[in-house]
Parts: sequence; C-alpha cells; structure tokens
Amino acid sequence: MRIRPYSDKDLAAVAQLFTDAIHGLAVTHYDEAQRKAWAPQPPDLGIWERRLKPLKVLLAQDAQNSDGLLGFVGYEEDGHIDLMFTSPLAARRGVASQLLGRAEAALRELGVAQLYTEASLLGQPFFARQGFTVKEEQHIELRGAQFRRFAMVKALDKP
Ligand SMILES: CC(C)(COP(=O)(O)OP(=O)(O)OC[C@H]1O[C@@H](n2cnc3c(N)ncnc32)[C@H](O)[C@@H]1OP(=O)(O)O)[C@@H](O)C(=O)NCCC(=O)NCCS
Repeated sequence: MRIRPYSDKDLAAVAQLFTDAIHGLAVTHYDEAQRKAWAPQPPDLGIWERRLKPLKVLLAQDAQNSDGLLGFVGYEEDGHIDLMFTSPLAARRGVASQLLGRAEAALRELGVAQLYTEASLLGQPFFARQGFTVKEEQHIELRGAQFRRFAMVKALDKP
C-alpha cells in the first residue's frame, strides 16, 4: 500500500470510493433511505470539490495498481478528522489505520494537542480501536434522514 497526497485529478475516484463505502460497508448499520441521503448516486463532483478544498487529504493506493484507490482520510490542521473511508474491496486490511496514522503523525508535528471527529456507527469502533473516546452522542439530520453519530476525541502527546 502506498500513501500519497490528493490532487485534483483524484476527485472523481474519491467521490466514487465514498459512495461505494456507504452503499457497500455501511449497509450493516444504515437503511436504504439513510444511505441514499448520505451518499446520493451519482456523487455530485461540484459538491465534492468544495467539500475537499479546505482539507488535507491523503489517499491509500494499491502498490501494484495505480488505479486502485483503497481509501482516503480528510483532515484539518486543528486536529479535525473529517472524512475517513475505505473501499469495500479493501475493508479490514488496515487501510484506515494506516491513513489515520499518517494524518496523526502530521498533526503531531504541527503541535496539535487533540484529534477530534464525528464518528458514524461504523466509524465508532474503528476510532475507539485507534485510542479515541466518545465525548457525546449526537443526532443530526442530513437531506431529510436522521443519523446518530459520536463526537470522539484523542489527546496527543507532545512531539
Ligand atoms: C470505518 C472504516 C473507515 C474502517 O476502515 P478499515 O480500513 O476497514 O479499518 P481497519 O482495517 O484499519 O480497521 C482497524 C480496526 O478498527 C476496528 N474496525 C474497523 N472496522 C470495523 C467494523 N466495521 N466493525 C467493528 N470494528 C471495526 C477493528 O478493531 C479493526 O481491527 P481488526 O480488523 O483487526 O478487527 C470503513 O469501515 C468505512 O469506510 N466504513 C463506511 C463509512 C464510514 O462509516 N466511515 C467512517 C466515517 S466516521
């Protein structure tokens, strides 16, 4: 697996991976109406361009196949882990763990004291495994569907 920064030419592949992750992996925790609201098909690339612009985004790529995107993480320099998604074809192989590890290392270098995220029902056990704890449960509405999520935090040691 190779981890590299996002560039504009990755836009469609990232939006598609997100869509595949929701309609593939999230099928265990979200019904069809929720999945459609969370990840409309096809993805709107204009929305995605604006969504990714303020973020640092790292991609995990198959080392053997440069077209094979395995996952991505999007974060902000204040410690916010905003987007964390793995392709259904690459789930439970440590892709998200490696991506988060890279983002965490970069944020430590910047002197960030705490990571924070809003984890989905699927993200919660993943982030817990990475040392995050739940601060509060939240209920949000997105495109007419209701979602339960968890505000989670992880304190970082000084570099
Ligand atoms: C959550 C997600 C990013 C995890 O990606 P991943 O690459 O499969 O995660 P990893 O392989 O690095 O998992 C590391 C550990 O996290 C935990 N974990 C990951 N996915 C899990 C799941 N679905 N259920 C329970 N624990 C899970 C496990 O402890 C796992 O270790 P193990 O496989 O040895 O048991 C991925 O399932 C995903 O994209 N889900 C759909 C979208 C989503 O909800 N994203 C999170 C938004 S906050």
